[in-house]
Amino acid sequence: MLTLEDVTAGYGGGNVLQGVSLTCGEGTVTCIVGPNGAGKSTVLRVISGLLRCRTGSVALAGSRLDQLDPARILALGITQVPQSQALFPGMSVRENVLLGGYLIRRDRRLLAARFDAVVARIPLVGERARDQAGNLSGGQRRMVEIARCLMLSPKLLLLDEPSLGLDPRSLAGVAGLIRSLHEGGTTVLMVEQNVRLGLGLATHGVVMEGGKVRLTGTAAAVRDNPEMASLYLGGTPASVKETQHG
Ligand SMILES: Nc1ncnc2c1ncn2[C@@H]1O[C@H](COP(=O)(O)OP(=O)(O)O)[C@@H](O)[C@H]1O
Ligand SMILES: [Mg+2]
Repeated sequence: MLTLEDVTAGYGGGNVLQGVSLTCGEGTVTCIVGPNGAGKSTVLRVISGLLRCRTGSVALAGSRLDQLDPARILALGITQVPQSQALFPGMSVRENVLLGGYLIRRDRRLLAARFDAVVARIPLVGERARDQAGNLSGGQRRMVEIARCLMLSPKLLLLDEPSLGLDPRSLAGVAGLIRSLHEGGTTVLMVEQNVRLGLGLATHGVVMEGGKVRLTGTAAAVRDNPEMASLYLGGTPASVKETQHG
């Protein structure tokens, strides 16, 4: 469904991504893991059009999108949950979620139907609809950020570090939501620093290091690959050590 082929991209002189190729099949949950600075977020930025690739291509269902504006890419059904501080704290939960339907704002009926569908999937949005977003916990905000992206009924949902800064309970909530999105058929591409969590939720894994893809495969195969251990030696996140030792 989504294909990156030999993508190079960067911010200044050098290239951060050095020939990245990966695919996400329809209905899969793909998780990109790798050390800090590996280029994981940069991959998401290239897909959503926030950063142009210098060479290579990005295609959705066979159609190139690497030369399109972010707004066009959004209209094609690719939405990204931004890393943090994405909600307007002084606006209600409902208003924040409705902002995600900006592209369909003229079709009030569709907007309302989508909102109801999002509430059915994420009951918190209904329960806290009138509350200010600023009054929510970190985990609840993350759910509302995802809810906002679901207003466009995306073909592909990009999540950058959904677990970042969440306590274990909120984390379980967000993980449950990602599982339910997968069960509902949404294709997800996520970046996760919590390797165990990410590969536990995913169907497929991609390991990046130094702007390159080091390993790909089913999530289980990536998790159990002995190379994972060597990649993370040194500044090893605890989650990888745990995975490694069972
Ligand atoms: N806006 C930017 N300007 C310049 N360099 C950047 C920018 N964003 C990221 N980088 C650099 O690109 C590299 C990869 O960053 P990033 O994709 O954010 O890595 P990851 O998400 O894997 O931690 C890092 O060396 C980082 O310093
Ligand atoms: Mg990142």
